[in-house]
Amino acid sequence: MKTRNGRNWALGITIIAAFCLAAAVAAPNDGAVLQAFLKGVANGASLSWTGTDYCGGTWNGVTCSGGNVVQLRLRDSGLGGTVTPTLNQLTDLTFLELPNNGFTGAMPSLAGMANLQNVYLHQNNFTSIPGDFFNGLTNVVNLYIDRNTGLNGTAGWTFPEAITASTLLANLSVASTNLNSIPDYVAAMPSLRVLLAAYNNIPSIPAAFAGSNIEVLQVNNQGGMKGTMAPCGQMPAVKLLWLQVNQLTGPIPDGLVDAKGLTDLRLNDNLLVGQIPMGLANLPITTAFLKNNYLSGQMPPFPGTVNVSSDAADFCAAGGSPCSAQVTALLQFLKDAGYPETLSQSWIGADPCVGWSGVTCAGTDVVSLSLAKVGFTGTISPFLANLTSLRQILLNDNALTGSIPTALTTLPVLQTLDVSNNNISGLVPIFSSNVTFRSTGNPLLGTVLPPPSSAPGSPGATPGAASGSSSSSNVGMIVGIVVGVLALVIAVVILAICLKRRKKRKYSSLMQGQNTVVHPQGDSGSDPELGKIVAGHRAAQATDGTRTNYSGPSDYQVEEGDHLGTSYEVLREVTENFAEKNVLGKGGFGVVYKGTFPDGTMVAVKRMEAAVMSTKGLKEFQSEISVLSKVRHRNLVELKGYCAYRNERLLVYEYMAQGTLAQHLFEYKALGTSPLEWTRRLSIALDVARGLEYLHGLAHKSFIHRDLKPSNILLGDNWHAKVSDFGLVKLAPENNFSVETRLAGTFGYLAPEYAVTGRVTTKADVFSFGVCLMEMMTGRRALDETELEENMHLVTWFRRTNTSQETFINCIDPTITVDDETLKSLNTVSDLALLCTQREPYQRPDMAHAVNVLKPLVEQWKPAKTLTGESSEEIDLQLTLPEALKQWQDLEDYSFTGGDDRSRTSTGIPVKPHDFANTFTSNDGR
Ligand SMILES: *[C@@H]1O[C@H](CO)[C@@H](O)[C@H](O)[C@H]1NC(C)=O
Ligand SMILES: *[C@@H]1O[C@H](CO)[C@@H](O)[C@H](O)[C@H]1NC(C)=O
Ligand SMILES: *[C@@H]1O[C@H](CO)[C@@H](O)[C@H](O)[C@H]1NC(C)=O
Ligand SMILES: *[C@@H]1O[C@H](CO)[C@@H](O)[C@H](O)[C@H]1NC(C)=O
Ligand SMILES: *[C@@H]1O[C@H](CO)[C@@H](O)[C@H](O)[C@H]1NC(C)=O
Ligand SMILES: *[C@@H]1O[C@H](CO)[C@@H](O)[C@H](O)[C@H]1NC(C)=O
Ligand SMILES: *[C@@H]1O[C@H](CO)[C@@H](O)[C@H](O)[C@H]1NC(C)=O
Repeated sequence: MKTRNGRNWALGITIIAAFCLAAAVAAPNDGAVLQAFLKGVANGASLSWTGTDYCGGTWNGVTCSGGNVVQLRLRDSGLGGTVTPTLNQLTDLTFLELPNNGFTGAMPSLAGMANLQNVYLHQNNFTSIPGDFFNGLTNVVNLYIDRNTGLNGTAGWTFPEAITASTLLANLSVASTNLNSIPDYVAAMPSLRVLLAAYNNIPSIPAAFAGSNIEVLQVNNQGGMKGTMAPCGQMPAVKLLWLQVNQLTGPIPDGLVDAKGLTDLRLNDNLLVGQIPMGLANLPITTAFLKNNYLSGQMPPFPGTVNVSSDAADFCAAGGSPCSAQVTALLQFLKDAGYPETLSQSWIGADPCVGWSGVTCAGTDVVSLSLAKVGFTGTISPFLANLTSLRQILLNDNALTGSIPTALTTLPVLQTLDVSNNNISGLVPIFSSNVTFRSTGNPLLGTVLPPPSSAPGSPGATPGAASGSSSSSNVGMIVGIVVGVLALVIAVVILAICLKRRKKRKYSSLMQGQNTVVHPQGDSGSDPELGKIVAGHRAAQATDGTRTNYSGPSDYQVEEGDHLGTSYEVLREVTENFAEKNVLGKGGFGVVYKGTFPDGTMVAVKRMEAAVMSTKGLKEFQSEISVLSKVRHRNLVELKGYCAYRNERLLVYEYMAQGTLAQHLFEYKALGTSPLEWTRRLSIALDVARGLEYLHGLAHKSFIHRDLKPSNILLGDNWHAKVSDFGLVKLAPENNFSVETRLAGTFGYLAPEYAVTGRVTTKADVFSFGVCLMEMMTGRRALDETELEENMHLVTWFRRTNTSQETFINCIDPTITVDDETLKSLNTVSDLALLCTQREPYQRPDMAHAVNVLKPLVEQWKPAKTLTGESSEEIDLQLTLPEALKQWQDLEDYSFTGGDDRSRTSTGIPVKPHDFANTFTSNDGR
């Protein structure tokens, strides 16, 4: 719009004459504009504008300055008619005040009135707002055009973007003007403090209210404003907030309590749900209208002077009393789950057992939440764990995100948890075997979150800590520790129960049933193989301490217990995509990687070689693994689970911090450690003997290791030794060249009959054990290709050399200090080794014999060790006294409980908590 002041007009007229013929209906000066104004007014006589001296002070409402009109103020003057559209030619006008009259027709355009500061055109009967009305109002501060009811019949209007030039605008009143939106650029205007826009058709609260400095906001009575009031939770300056009589949904935002100056809050007659932020009671509120919503929970304890209007029955109690624990938990759960509208409208009042949709009670206890397809969009709240009577939780077919809170594993009587078809991610916590857990249709489930910055399980973790986690100050870690301790306590209880009941469990149910943590049923459209997992027995380590309760191997059983659930994705993540730096070792069956879970738990993941597995079907693999997973003993490395995904076969074992015996015998220099002392080797030998004895004694199926060698003997903390890889040979395809290839590496350990005929009995393991004993004595490998051909084969060499005491001494590993006592036990072990490596299987003893020979040697060594200064090597001087004591105690426990399962029939040995603590920390990689 072209606007000129009178002086410039003369110049412009020659150039745009044609335009001027149409526009210049009034004279280009203030007098002419006033005359035009007078002409439009229906009852102009009442103004007594007579003569021509409009600045003379006789013209009602007109004020001049320097010969120009600066104010036109005719408030409540009973005027009618229209206002001249040339009004904006009064370019010096700062004050335009025409409210409470009967003006009709179009509002005068204010375009270009750069001096105008105050505009009051409210309470007239204008029927339209010119498109250029707001143009160039660069100095306007107060702009009131409200209650022009003539605008009602029109299509409605909104602010043009030009209004953003009005950077000083502080008070804007547009109530009852048929306004149909508040654009964000208005909501965000920098000086805006008061926005009165009630009784319009604004469809929703503009997002840009968030972060604004608005102090007074009235957008009540929009005839159906929808959406949430979330942006109002970020208006720290707001003092008066009127949103009443709309259709707002969702909760009252918590951020509202940051509006420290809030005095007048009107939210009545909406569809608001959820709890009222408690902090509102601390604000200087004098009016809080909350009626006719679906608010619930505890009413904030507003002071008695506050005019609160609410529906008392919706809340737990009058006078701000708190809700019952159940209601608190349910409402917190609902909040975290995103307050879906319909459900939230149902969960009001003090009693969840009456009329709360999806909630089922037994007596007054909430026992079931049946909340499939209710429109959850948030997360699964840990507060659910407070509902301790819950047996069933169905949350399937919603849009929940986040992870499954570990706290849910503490629900004591939980039977069913269904989170299928949501968008859950994170690791699956370990539920009791009593829990049927359904999780199909969550493609991100099992995705590992980034590990916490201070890595747990790092060196320096307190050895005696009751959890694998380090002393991180991270809150999450603390929570983790607390949960861990809880889980531990629960594990103890569960174990006690299990040991009493001795409940047997078929592996098939491990595979298909409730234990399976991640177990797509194939109905989700995802790869049915993905994450097919299994059932590691995380609590199994803990059972070691009580294993002496068993009367023998025939008593072997798989307890119901907690299971380590992991999908391929998880294993891939914890091994950092099978990173080279995580390789723990490579063997005939594949590469072993270290895997570190975010909570610090470490595992060893064996990624089977494709060649080894290729001919084995999934079923066959599973049935083999199922057997292996049942074999558990304190001297056998625990198979925690496996994962079969496409062609990948992954086995998950417990992590053994000290690596393999082979490393300590043959590669200690490279490792930078000192060579093993003889006494330590002895105790390792005894451990291995016990592990093998147990394997061989298994009732249903005599287990043959077939591949015993120092690289399959793993060492944990305190040098406990465990045998690994038992049974894997059977997994390999028979009659396949790859077997030979693999056996080549193991050749030195192979019993002759096995090597020649392929027939194998437990005595083949005894032979290999004898070879291991020789390696421990000599520090030489079974097959040493660096030696002359006749000396290459350890067994042959040892037999040949060990003919007299003098030559025998030459066989001994030079790192072993040979005193009289050591020599005695070396001789005994040498005899045992020779016996074990007899040519004919029947000439070899069984493992029980080996255990009997070794046991006294180890026990004999024990007291000597604690009496002499040897312990100064055994016990790390950096340990505190209690830690050192504990380590010593652990060694004692170890020698006491370790091994001989069959000879111990006593029951009732109490489960010592520190045993559990110790086993749990054994993974922390100290
Ligand atoms: C407003 O104008 C309409 C016609 O445009 C008229 O019918 C109505 O009576 C007027 N209202 C007032 C309050 O002047
Ligand atoms: C205009 O609308 C407002 C609110 O919507 C109403 O109060 C008023 O009576 C209406 N006026 C006319 C003339 O329709
Ligand atoms: C806005 O309006 C209020 C009430 O009329 C007034 O007190 C205040 O001074 C105005 N703000 C400005 C910046 O003029
Ligand atoms: C509370 O506000 C309502 C609505 O304005 C009013 O009717 C009522 O009198 C007020 N009550 C008190 C105690 O001020
Ligand atoms: C409920 O659970 C929360 C979060 O898990 C916890 O902080 C709170 O202490 C529990 N409250 C009760 C009463 O158990
Ligand atoms: C699931 O959540 C992730 C983020 O956690 C998001 O990127 C993805 O779009 C969501 N998928 C669906 C189907 O909602
Ligand atoms: C499993 O449920 C049975 C029967 O309800 C109960 O006796 C047992 O203690 C539960 N076991 C666990 C581990 O919660």
